[in-house]
Amino acid sequence: MGIFIHLVDSGEVKNLYGYPIFGTTLALLSLGIFLLLFKEWSIHGPTNLPIVGVESPGYLARVKARRKFVSHGFQIVRDAYYKHYGKNFVITTNSNEKVILTYNQVKELSNAPDDTVSMSHSSAQTMMAQHTGLSGFVGIHYVREAVKAELNKNLGNMIGDLLEEAQFALRTELPGFATDEWVSVDIPAVALRAVARISGRAFIGLPLCRNEDWLALSIAFTTDVFQEVNKLTPVPKLLRPFFAYIWNSAGSVKSNKRKAQSLLAPVIQRRLEEEGLAEKNGTVRQNHRDLLQWLTARVTPDHKNVNVLSGMQLMTGLASIHTTGTGFTNMIFDLAEHQECIQPIREEMETLIAANGGVLDRATLRKMRKTDSFLRESFRTKLSLLGFNRMIMKNMTLSDGTYLPKGTLVAAPAAIFSSDPGFVEDPEVFDGFRWYKKSLGVADRAVDNNNASNTSPTNLIFSYGRHACPGRYFVVEVMKIMLAFMLLQYDIKYPEGQSRPPNIQMGEFSYPDRRQKILFRKRPGPKKFSFL
Ligand code: HEM
Ligand SMILES: *[C@@H]1O[C@H](CO)[C@@H](O)[C@H](O)[C@H]1NC(C)=O
Ligand SMILES: *[C@@H]1O[C@H](CO)[C@@H](O)[C@H](O)[C@H]1NC(C)=O
Ligand SMILES: *[C@@H]1O[C@H](CO)[C@@H](O)[C@H](O)[C@H]1NC(C)=O
Repeated sequence: MGIFIHLVDSGEVKNLYGYPIFGTTLALLSLGIFLLLFKEWSIHGPTNLPIVGVESPGYLARVKARRKFVSHGFQIVRDAYYKHYGKNFVITTNSNEKVILTYNQVKELSNAPDDTVSMSHSSAQTMMAQHTGLSGFVGIHYVREAVKAELNKNLGNMIGDLLEEAQFALRTELPGFATDEWVSVDIPAVALRAVARISGRAFIGLPLCRNEDWLALSIAFTTDVFQEVNKLTPVPKLLRPFFAYIWNSAGSVKSNKRKAQSLLAPVIQRRLEEEGLAEKNGTVRQNHRDLLQWLTARVTPDHKNVNVLSGMQLMTGLASIHTTGTGFTNMIFDLAEHQECIQPIREEMETLIAANGGVLDRATLRKMRKTDSFLRESFRTKLSLLGFNRMIMKNMTLSDGTYLPKGTLVAAPAAIFSSDPGFVEDPEVFDGFRWYKKSLGVADRAVDNNNASNTSPTNLIFSYGRHACPGRYFVVEVMKIMLAFMLLQYDIKYPEGQSRPPNIQMGEFSYPDRRQKILFRKRPGPKKFSFL
């Protein structure tokens, strides 16, 4: 657990903060509960810090502030950030109070042990794990370790699998094209399904990654969870157990878990049998090149079963599919807007692949520096408001003297850092080749920190420190592969009279408008490379 806070599926968020529940609930409350609530919703801890977004004292003012955060969160935090520049302040989000950290504090806390500064406690709280059924999952640390130790090391070996799946995914998901015709493509939907397919190949392998039920499940799991969280968010904490019971908030996670088990059981059982046989024969079992294999080999015997292993697949999907799908959609929206960047990126791809004998391998992907730069610029300008969400587990005093009591929730203003002129030159300009140009000035590529998988206290797309996203190398490569398939075969543009819609900002999240279509046109001539 501990990875969800950055995930959101936007469509479902919309109905969320119509607070009708408050009316009913408040009417039911006795004065006693009311006073308790007042205590619950008051800010514990560092009350000497300025509090932002709450206009007057009292319970109802706080309800109002929570609602206002949903519509104006970015603006509230940006204003406060510059007003209290370089200092802490407390914000009232839609569900909690959070202390906003400075750059130096993120750095200081980023490598603290989990029993002192916890990611999972923060997300368990945000995702209401005990009500939504998410607390029943074990072993996300296995996923982190397997991604770090095996997925990342096998990126070179896996690329053939990923290319094959990308080819299959785009053929399946994109509509048919007649020559010279612009066709409208629902890119948010295509991106999500293509990502689910390609990641599925790396996570569970063939044939399950092409199973329609599995695909649907791996996509819906995230949206279903968020729907339950969103429903419960406006309910006061004391009443949540009651409403969670009435609404059966854990029901969708439970039923999705059962579906995952029934789909994965035959695959896992076959693999465990193979393993058992090989052990008996004293031979080496056939190795599958996917996360399921690496997890199976890694877990302790008590976790080596269908229940736990399929739960881990759901967790992995939760961390990866919507995040990557959203990131890819943002990138296509940005590219269609910045037509001047398309040809240089296409040429970079063609030149590098041609120079490698028509083969797209990992080394070639890593050399695509303009592509990489565009990706990073797209990430930079679409960040969620908050990153590095943590709970303080022990009273602590930071080196700058700031006191953070046990239980405090903290976060970094990720989207504000990434547009602070103190950290990024001309932050309001979208410059697709900004990072490429910067990297040209770096003599040693090994220490070049301008690439898209970079992390730093001010570049928090993948967070920073001990819990920084282990999937970031994989994501960058998958996105480059998908982009190569698209740009080498199609031209893209907005429908007449349309341009890049601003991302929708809701609460702490930023996401592309899912209604936006992009026009695709097949490029003339035979396919350039055999892998396409
Ligand atoms: C564009 C896509 C992605 C984005 C923006 C993203 C972002 C993040 C962020 C911000 C965190 C860290 C949270 C923190 O420090 O608070 C995280 C954690 C994590 N991510 Fe990603 N991620 C992406 C894709 C993926 C993929 C594809 C995988 C799997 C291969 C993955 C696996 C994980 C895991 C396992 C963690 C937990 C790490 C831990 O507990 O230490 N992510 N991700
Ligand atoms: C193990 O041996 C059995 C028969 O003795 C054979 O059918 C099976 O294929 C072997 N399995 C492996 C993984 O070597
Ligand atoms: C933490 O600080 C609070 C006061 O802020 C105090 O009541 C509590 O005993 C402290 N806890 C520990 C473990 O020191
Ligand atoms: C990105 O930069 C880091 C150093 O900051 C380097 O280790 C890594 O290999 C680079 N990745 C690519 C794809 O260039």
